[in-house]
Amino acid sequence: MAEVAEIKSVDLNPQEFIETQIADIARLVGGGTAINALSGGVDSSVVTMLGHRALGDSLKTYFIDNGIMREGEPQRIVNLFKGLGVTVEIVDAKEKFFNALKGITDPEEKREAITQTFYKDVFGRLVRASGARYLLQGTILTDIDETVAGIKRQHNVFEQLGINPEAAFGYKIIEPVVQLRKDGVRKVAKVLGLPESIYNRMPFPGPALSARVIGEATPERIALVRAATRIVEEELRSTGAFQYMAILHQDRVTGMRDGKRDFGLQIEIRCWDSVDARLAAPTRLPYEILDALARRIIAEVAGVASVTYNITTKPPSTMEAV
Ligand code: XMP
Repeated sequence: MAEVAEIKSVDLNPQEFIETQIADIARLVGGGTAINALSGGVDSSVVTMLGHRALGDSLKTYFIDNGIMREGEPQRIVNLFKGLGVTVEIVDAKEKFFNALKGITDPEEKREAITQTFYKDVFGRLVRASGARYLLQGTILTDIDETVAGIKRQHNVFEQLGINPEAAFGYKIIEPVVQLRKDGVRKVAKVLGLPESIYNRMPFPGPALSARVIGEATPERIALVRAATRIVEEELRSTGAFQYMAILHQDRVTGMRDGKRDFGLQIEIRCWDSVDARLAAPTRLPYEILDALARRIIAEVAGVASVTYNITTKPPSTMEAV
């Protein structure tokens, strides 16, 4: 297994990095075609821009609508990239992902179901139809570290686990930002001309909202956490924190509604201060903000009887709950 040589954000020359990666992508893909999936996060957005600069129309970019993204996400991202001159096609794969997630409660099994559905089924089909031999993807060094350490299997890590993507899925994977961490990717994104809404965008996990549902990720439970996520993002945007999220718990608690007992749902809020996601501490949010969050979630998300704020550091916690 080849060690990946880290480029620390302080040592990074974004312009030079961009030129090197564009040349490498062009050389590897040659006159062939490549495809990539854009999720709208900073990592895949950078890879999309690098790929289009290197390959032009020989790179086909898809947005896979897996049904577990945040509200309005597919259209927002496609429109944003249209403005940057990059055509992105939306692939509706909602049913496939929900079928794959059916009945699964174990976190790692959930990740594996998403990985297989994404790479083998949805992407496998697209690659076979396009004749592309290369997939460009935005794996970063932190994804590899945590997977190799056995903390969390990141959905996009293969070779470090001894999986050969070509043998497993029938295509090669190119990872242009694998030497960087989040802070480095943000610098590159800015120099590539991506808007601040992308380069300063907070991280979002590959398994999307299914990483924010403890237990089974059904369409109904995803809809619930999506509604809570919108509220948390609206209320906490001004804090400038590294990442904030809503998590739907599996356990219920006794509450009361309209004078009657209500065995209600629990939403946990996490808000993290961090530089590169390796270490993190809970943001010391003013009580007024916490109070507003709880009131809005209880009022706007049906069935919730408890809203809590997580005050644990990473480690021992991880940032996502699943
Ligand atoms: P954890 O939960 O491992 O998260 O402390 C660290 C950072 O990585 C993001 N994250 C993921 N990103 N695939 C991803 O692409 C994943 O499976 C995944 N799990 C966590 C998380 O949002 C945080 O920023």
